Amino acid sequence: MKIFLDTADIDEIRRAAEAGLIDGVTTNPSLMAKVGGDRDPTELFLDICETVDGPVSAEVIAIDAEGMIEQGGRLAKIHDNIVIKVPLTEAGLRACRSLSNDGIRVNVTLCFSPTQAHLAAKAGAAYISPFIGRIEDISGDGMELISQIRMIYDNYDIETEILAASIRHPQHMVQALLIGADCGTLPPKVLYQLLKHPLTDRGLDGFLADWKSLGRDL
Ligand code: G3P
Repeated sequence: MKIFLDTADIDEIRRAAEAGLIDGVTTNPSLMAKVGGDRDPTELFLDICETVDGPVSAEVIAIDAEGMIEQGGRLAKIHDNIVIKVPLTEAGLRACRSLSNDGIRVNVTLCFSPTQAHLAAKAGAAYISPFIGRIEDISGDGMELISQIRMIYDNYDIETEILAASIRHPQHMVQALLIGADCGTLPPKVLYQLLKHPLTDRGLDGFLADWKSLGRDL
């Protein structure tokens, strides 16, 4: 499964990319706002694209199809890694069709139902982003949505990649891996939670203590 980092924080992106832990980055307007307005968004997207060797989702902020197509076309020119993120609205799907006809990869975001995911694929989406955590925020079953989309896409040989989004904790990741989501996007905190295990820490402490008892250097 491809792992994307869900952040616009360039230091976090560099940290994960240098360790070879991530295959790409996803951003959204809220994540852009979190890193503050000091940086020009175009420069920040370019910086991210030069830091990670993989798809970098940049989201449009227009709500009409024409505006999304215009913004998406401009964003796509920043770097070959850019993937245009559009919301799952009728206008978003129109923009998705137009941008993908022009050879621009589109990530359709804010997906909350299997029928939405099916229509996004029809509109030529390269990625569909179902939001697991936000469904659970309103007592729904986010993983069931991922399973249903997996089944639908497999039934009809749909190539759109399932990008499990709004991943909030390691169990979301385990479930998405087991279901067979193509990609998962997660915040830096969750990425590092995935590698932590108390037995690893305890085992390492024991190894180091035993080595120390040797009284030798390596
Ligand atoms: O990038 C979109 C998605 O991952 C947002 O997650 O935690 O804000 O629901 P969250």
